[in-house]
Amino acid sequence: MTAERIDGKAFAASLRERVGEHAAQFEASAGRKAGLAVVLVGEDPASQVYVRSKHKATVAAGMESFEHRLPADTSEEDLLALVDRLNADEAVDGILVQLPLPDHLDEQAVIASISPDKDVDGFHVTNAGRLAVGQSGFVPCTPLGCMMLLTERLGDLSGLEAVVIGRSNIVGKPMAQLLLDANATVTIAHSRTKDLPSVVKRADIVVAAVGRAEMVKADWLKDGATVIDVGINRLPPTDGEEKGRLVGDVDYAGAKSVAGAITPVPGGVGPMTIAVLLRNTLVAAYRNADLQVPDGL
Ligand code: GUN
Repeated sequence: MTAERIDGKAFAASLRERVGEHAAQFEASAGRKAGLAVVLVGEDPASQVYVRSKHKATVAAGMESFEHRLPADTSEEDLLALVDRLNADEAVDGILVQLPLPDHLDEQAVIASISPDKDVDGFHVTNAGRLAVGQSGFVPCTPLGCMMLLTERLGDLSGLEAVVIGRSNIVGKPMAQLLLDANATVTIAHSRTKDLPSVVKRADIVVAAVGRAEMVKADWLKDGATVIDVGINRLPPTDGEEKGRLVGDVDYAGAKSVAGAITPVPGGVGPMTIAVLLRNTLVAAYRNADLQVPDGL
């Protein structure tokens, strides 16, 4: 058997198109564009690439992008003052402070200063709490994107065995909450889990979010399992390569002969994150403007 390849890139493109259509309707109803403010502190190269892609995608979807680039030695006081101004700015619906922050800045304090109603990353404890008790808030973009891919592939997840590998606040924990909300039977596995292969073996759904290249092997998987690979790891370059290959947390080449469906790396979960960020920003805009959030967003 060869697994179906779950095309996150195509799904993300269609989500972005849908967001773009609704963004135009929002502008017509509200008399202004939905707006996303992105704050980047310092010059981390990967963060610069992400921030540029977020800017381009926001503009392409017909929304306003406000970029704030601050020097690496920005004080916490100045950063918190900027977040305060963005919280108060009616043109700004969503605020994203790009992580990681330089070491001298307290990430938790900065996230806590973002208004929960503009926290389109879903990182604020208020939004984590809303997710935990089943209230509507903002859900972190990557796990919400994984959930969209899963429901599109499987429909109803009720009663399915799901194993989430990884327990981060950004992916593992919210992923588990979403799966639980969808009535799956959920296990969160992590670095201290005993006999991880046998835990994974019972899963109808595997979500791998550990950041270890090709850790999940084909013979860990149940036949026909749906595998969502959140990992993006660069292998060391081999002869003739300038840069090593990008691989996920799952051994894709092996897993595709056992799994029922699997996301590739790249082109699986990765493109979903920005598409969901745009979606969350537009939802924030509708809520902030006291307009009904359209169905299907
Ligand atoms: N750094 C890497 N991914 C993310 C993300 O989704 N949001 C923020 N704020 N920072 C990140």
